[in-house]
Amino acid sequence: MQVVLDYLKRNQARFVAELCEYLRFPSVSAQPQHKKDLRACAGWLVNHARQIGLEARLCPTAGHPIVVAKTPRAPGPRKPHFMIYGHYDVQPPEPLDLWKSPPFTPRIQGRSIYARGSTDNKGQNFAHFKAVEAYLKTGTPLPCDLTFVIEGEEEVGSANLAKFLKSHRRELACDAVVVSDTGMPSPKHPALTYSLRGIIAFEITVHGPSRDLHSGVFGGAVENPAMALARLLAQVRDASGRVTIPGFYDGIAPLSAYERKQFARLPIKDRDLQKLLGVKKLFGERGFTPTEQRSARPTFEINGLTSGYQGQGSKTIVPAWARAKITCRLVPNQRPAKIRELVCRHIEKICPPTVRLEIEAGHGAEAYLVSPQSREAQAALRALKAAFGCQPVLMREGGSIPIVNDFKKILRADSLLLGLGLPDDNAHSPNEKFNLDCFAKGQAMSAHLWQELSRI
Ligand code: BES
Ligand code: MN
Repeated sequence: MQVVLDYLKRNQARFVAELCEYLRFPSVSAQPQHKKDLRACAGWLVNHARQIGLEARLCPTAGHPIVVAKTPRAPGPRKPHFMIYGHYDVQPPEPLDLWKSPPFTPRIQGRSIYARGSTDNKGQNFAHFKAVEAYLKTGTPLPCDLTFVIEGEEEVGSANLAKFLKSHRRELACDAVVVSDTGMPSPKHPALTYSLRGIIAFEITVHGPSRDLHSGVFGGAVENPAMALARLLAQVRDASGRVTIPGFYDGIAPLSAYERKQFARLPIKDRDLQKLLGVKKLFGERGFTPTEQRSARPTFEINGLTSGYQGQGSKTIVPAWARAKITCRLVPNQRPAKIRELVCRHIEKICPPTVRLEIEAGHGAEAYLVSPQSREAQAALRALKAAFGCQPVLMREGGSIPIVNDFKKILRADSLLLGLGLPDDNAHSPNEKFNLDCFAKGQAMSAHLWQELSRI
């Protein structure tokens, strides 16, 4: 084991240079013009995996390809088998003018590497590749078999991965899935995340007149679709952010006293959060702390809002339409299909008769919750402690990784969420970064993890 850790230490500079190569691909899954870049990024990863001694292949899907890479299987008794899941696709980098350096030209400053996808998720999944490289290149036997599944559609809802899991059930059957695609409160608080929120996405369009109209000539006698949409959306939450849609909170389990105590132990203070996010004041559902609000309570959020003239100067029109991109985050016991139904019915009900409403459904996923008491979870906590040199924390997080539910349903495998991101990493924001100490410690964590997990 020491030779593995020494190898990791000795090779950090090269690893960082390789991560830069990985980060140079603009693998933006949401934008059709980047289809080739996703393919190229996946191809690079397959090649890289082969170079470090893995058996790797590129698996085409109806969307972006999936990379599968396996440690060479030795003959003999069956070893435990773990899957490492991650994604090579990234969020759109816009708005570009807010980046201090171009999003796909990695830049190192201090102990951070800046680029879109650095923390979410290339840097995090690359840490696992480097740990496995250390085993393979030092000739240290791995106590288990490993299969990497790195997809290219996580940021758009993983539409084609479930089908792939079903058609490769045998090959991918495993004892647990390891996912580093979440965060930790600070480098001194490595974390095991035991719950994620679910999600439903949709777009609401409000149609008014058949074309943009002169607002002086016709304004006043027709409903303005932007106004109608704004009024409609404003009614969906109350003043403290509680969703007013009937039935939205039905069946949600209250937070246990134990959980609330764990939340309260996390090191992030309200003041620091306010400062980090640059808001005047925090905001959220009464009766819950900000940590609870953003990880264990459901939400209704506008992600994008468009209508009328967006260019320079003014243009006096009543726009023909207005559109909002919406996602709701869900918590355990909220069924995505049921909540989608409730939300649509309510919006239809409160929509005024002067406009035509169109709701287009998007992706959806259930929330995720596993026991932090399982033997696998305990093994993961030991690996975190060994790598980071301090006591790990247990937490729930507010983001979503849709596919972890399918790992459970299709492969019957739980996911261990061992995130390496920091709260100020700017995931999905301009100037995304990844901390190089988290990168190095993540590799060590991975190296320890295979020992710990295989021992149980
Ligand atoms: N890595 C995130 C998920 C995440 C981030 C979980 C922080 C917990 C803490 C992942 O890449 C992501 O952003 N997922 C999307 C999924 C969606 C597009 C279906 C999300 O949560 O918005
Ligand atoms: Mn993401």
